[in-house]
Amino acid sequence: MDTAIIVLAAGQGTRMASDIPKVLHEVAHAPLLHHVLRAAAALEPTRTVVVVGTGAEAVADAARELDPKAETALQTERLGTAHAVAQAQPALEGFTGDALVLYGDTPFVRPETLQRMQAARAEGSAVVVLGFEAADPTGYGRLITGTDGSLEAIVEHKDASDAQRAITLCNSGVICADSLTLFSLIEAVGNNNAKGEYYLTDIVAIARGRGLSCAAVTCDESETLGVNSRAELAGAEATFQAGMRARAMAEGATLTAPGTVFFAYDTQLGRDVIVEPFVTFGPNVSVADGARIRAYSHLEGAAVAPGAIVGPYARLRPGAQIGANARIGNFVEVKAAEIAEGAKVNHLTYIGDASVGAGANIGAGTITCNYDGVFKHRTTIGAGAFIGSNSALVAPVSIADGGYVASGSVVTSNVGAGDLAIARARQVNKPGLGARMVERLKALNQKGKG
Ligand code: UD1
Ligand code: CA
Repeated sequence: MDTAIIVLAAGQGTRMASDIPKVLHEVAHAPLLHHVLRAAAALEPTRTVVVVGTGAEAVADAARELDPKAETALQTERLGTAHAVAQAQPALEGFTGDALVLYGDTPFVRPETLQRMQAARAEGSAVVVLGFEAADPTGYGRLITGTDGSLEAIVEHKDASDAQRAITLCNSGVICADSLTLFSLIEAVGNNNAKGEYYLTDIVAIARGRGLSCAAVTCDESETLGVNSRAELAGAEATFQAGMRARAMAEGATLTAPGTVFFAYDTQLGRDVIVEPFVTFGPNVSVADGARIRAYSHLEGAAVAPGAIVGPYARLRPGAQIGANARIGNFVEVKAAEIAEGAKVNHLTYIGDASVGAGANIGAGTITCNYDGVFKHRTTIGAGAFIGSNSALVAPVSIADGGYVASGSVVTSNVGAGDLAIARARQVNKPGLGARMVERLKALNQKGKG
């Protein structure tokens, strides 16, 4: 059975007080829309249509960034959820199979939950709605069920009687139905209700009127969490981070102070990884088995090999590849550079657009001068090389295996294997001059006061 995903993402998100469309606000470094599309991708849909309105171009671009095959349908006026789904109909002309409607601002519905909805469809229910028991049902549509447990209707809060408002089983908004049936039901939806909108929820009563059966599948309220305000965005972030921390620990990583570690949606930690307090992961980071990320480090786009130690106060930027058992110490920044096995970059250093060979030792305060104001150039440091403290390596430049750079050097030409490069002013000592100079200065100072 083919599945088409329809994501409603046209809403303005007025309460976000933002110039950015609501669905592009991020949780764990991914737009809300990507969270939804990733969950949907687990169903291997044959078609994906995102209904866009506010910030249509930006939302469409974001959808295609994740799924190049995603299509968009433009909703020019926000006339309600049924009207929004109807905009996807031309794009799905000729499609046969199930259509699953998701909201772009509801990022945490799990793939397993969507699969349970598919299973309920397979068991013969024409329309399957995802419901949840709400701690506070105010504002939600209520699911009206019959004595046999089947779904009879959905009544929006504003249109509900007091008795109906006492129901706590609510509509998440996720709906699954055969695509042709869905669009045919939507054609019968009117807008004679408290909001004057075309409610998608009306399709349940219409389906029942046509003798079709409807069912509710339920999930935990945490999955149906929607984002309407900055406070809810922060709440969604907290929920997601809590989940990531729990998962990392369940999979064998130690988090010394879990509440202080912030993950990206795709952070991967191996077994027996230790993450000390106050560590932040940006997108695309993997930390292999047994590595340790020490306190106050910031990593993005980086791969850390087994047994490496990073930090405290380290910064790994995109393209940093830290080899097995390598050391990246305090106030060290690494960007687009491979640090091979066992190499040490322990203090106050910038390594950018470079490769550092196995077992090399990079002294405190070393800088790869990778940028000439227009172009970026590479620095190559061989295995077992030694770079003395406070050296500047002016790229493009290479230090061959076992090359040795005297501290304080400004290296502008290549250093051969096993060679020593000294590139600094020669020291001159003037016997007794220091003491004599201080005496003269003291005398000058006395004169000034007299
Ligand atoms: C909707 C449901 C309600 C459910 C609740 C769950 C209807 C009529 N009501 O109510 O039963 O309990 O969600 O959160 O469906 N959208 C568009 N175009 C539109 C209207 C909405 O794209 O014309 C999008 C919104 O951006 C949003 C989603 O659809 O992502 C839901 O719309 P919203 O207006 O928030 O519906 P609710 O009133 O919350
Ligand atoms: Ca809503």
